[in-house]
Amino acid sequence: MTPSRTDTRASTHWWQDALVYQVYVRSFADTTGNGVGDLNGIRAHLDHIAALGVDAIWLNPCYPSPQKDHGYDVADYFDIHDEYGTLDTFDALVADAAARGIKTLMDVVPNHCSSRHRWFLDALASSPGSPERARFYFRDGKGPRGTEPPNNWQAAFGGSAWTRATADSDLDDIQWYLGTFTPHQPDFDQTNTDVQAMFADVLRFWFDRGVEGFRVDAITPVGKDPALPDQPPVGPEIGTFDITWVNPYTVFRDEGHEVWRRWRTVIDEYGASHPDRDLMMVAEAYATRRPELTRAFTRQDEFHQMFAFDLMLTPWHKESVERALGDIIGILDETGVAPAWTLNNHDTQRIVTRLGRPEAEDPESWTGNALSTTGTDIDLELGDRRARALTALAFAVPGSLYLYQGEELGLPEVFDIPDDRREDPVFHLTDGEGLGRDGCRIPLPWSTEAATSFGFSTPARDGSVGEPWLPQPRVWGTYAATEQAGDDESMLAFYHRLSAARRVHAVPNGLHAELVDFGPGLVGLRRGSLVVVLNLTDEAIAPAPTVGIDLSAATVVAASTASPAAAVASGRIGACSTVWFDLGR
Ligand code: GLC
Repeated sequence: MTPSRTDTRASTHWWQDALVYQVYVRSFADTTGNGVGDLNGIRAHLDHIAALGVDAIWLNPCYPSPQKDHGYDVADYFDIHDEYGTLDTFDALVADAAARGIKTLMDVVPNHCSSRHRWFLDALASSPGSPERARFYFRDGKGPRGTEPPNNWQAAFGGSAWTRATADSDLDDIQWYLGTFTPHQPDFDQTNTDVQAMFADVLRFWFDRGVEGFRVDAITPVGKDPALPDQPPVGPEIGTFDITWVNPYTVFRDEGHEVWRRWRTVIDEYGASHPDRDLMMVAEAYATRRPELTRAFTRQDEFHQMFAFDLMLTPWHKESVERALGDIIGILDETGVAPAWTLNNHDTQRIVTRLGRPEAEDPESWTGNALSTTGTDIDLELGDRRARALTALAFAVPGSLYLYQGEELGLPEVFDIPDDRREDPVFHLTDGEGLGRDGCRIPLPWSTEAATSFGFSTPARDGSVGEPWLPQPRVWGTYAATEQAGDDESMLAFYHRLSAARRVHAVPNGLHAELVDFGPGLVGLRRGSLVVVLNLTDEAIAPAPTVGIDLSAATVVAASTASPAAAVASGRIGACSTVWFDLGR
């Protein structure tokens, strides 16, 4: 018998259909009472993570860092940030996770380091043209005495992408350095052999410690036109946060591919001498609505996977959701490369808020990271229902699914943060024009106990509890994990149900899926014997009859509501709901 397409696309690597839990270490749990999360905090709550049925955790950067961009400014790629623990704590975490069958993924930042990284300090102390400066992008300033930046590139988080290397008074040094994100994050020149060798060592160092793969940060600007020409003028429709991402001289350049091919060789070589391991790297880049980019970066000798942010950014609108799914499952079908789906991360407004926004249904809205938008007229109750419905769909789609801590508690975005407590450089570098990402990074509520920052902090030895690094709203306790534990209607219970359903009814069906049109207002997806229907409207709708699919004879195996009966009554899919049917063959 010829194998069916489903068979040929069966998953052979753990990461192809993994469920991964993203831990934003600083905000997960604090065991020292200083208001800052730490690695022991993760160890203390591993059962919570394991109960979600995840295959792996991904840790946001936990390397030594001045925390100017909360770890994305790495001062040393070979150690652990002192507020979070030590290498020993890290090893203990990896072991504790492994004991529960959970793998650990690190976050690696290739585009830039911290301006406090030893190499960058050496570069500042060295002269123009030195090998120390060659590891970064140092260029002479323009104009008399080099007082103008070398080109017109803008930084992703506001302002010029160039910073003068030394104080203006130093007439001998007219150089500037490039920082695509902030002046605290100088860009590496990845064509430099020292840089290449260091990153090969970084990958091997963490593989040696038991890490099974890497989420590779901000791959978009890695690789630049060596001439660094001025970027072409842009129209007023290109806002502050997008200007970097339309710069053809630093965005998705061919030079980047060379970097990933080198990294892939390192990983493959390591894997060849460790046949019991199945190592991977997943690319972070916003390639949404540009499937050709995902194809290019996941060629056989580059990334194993790339994030698909399509479902995260889609408006609440049938054609948009279908396109988000269709683009990505099309790639999967053609190439066998499984995407890494996600509906939330540490850079994006939380889903219950996003989908409760008045413009969420507008097909043009493209909800985006919403870094500059505030919290007016948000219907959180509606956002919660929609979030469950979209999440129930995401749990069914082939590929891996990355959950971001707190989404299993239904946490909303927090807007009410005093200016002087805001930490995100996006807020500070744009003078508040961009609200930034603090609102999705608020320390988690584990209990209702206000005295311990809702269970986020364990008191220090002297009994004291420091303020959490970002303030929690007073209502935070109502979202606490302990409150949701026994409640069937809770978001947490919903995640437990969907995770179990995924394991039984979705993953075994392989990696092939197709869209099914059940009529207006509905999005349908078939994956083997599993058929999932999302109703985007405010009314119950009966799916239109479809050739080869008899839903009336199928078994309802999961739904976005606590009772599947409420999600599908008299053959109609409930308003704002998702239902999983198993056709039984
Ligand atoms: C990525 C990270 C983000 C960080 C940026 C710069 O987009 O997810 O948090 O600020 O890269 O490293």
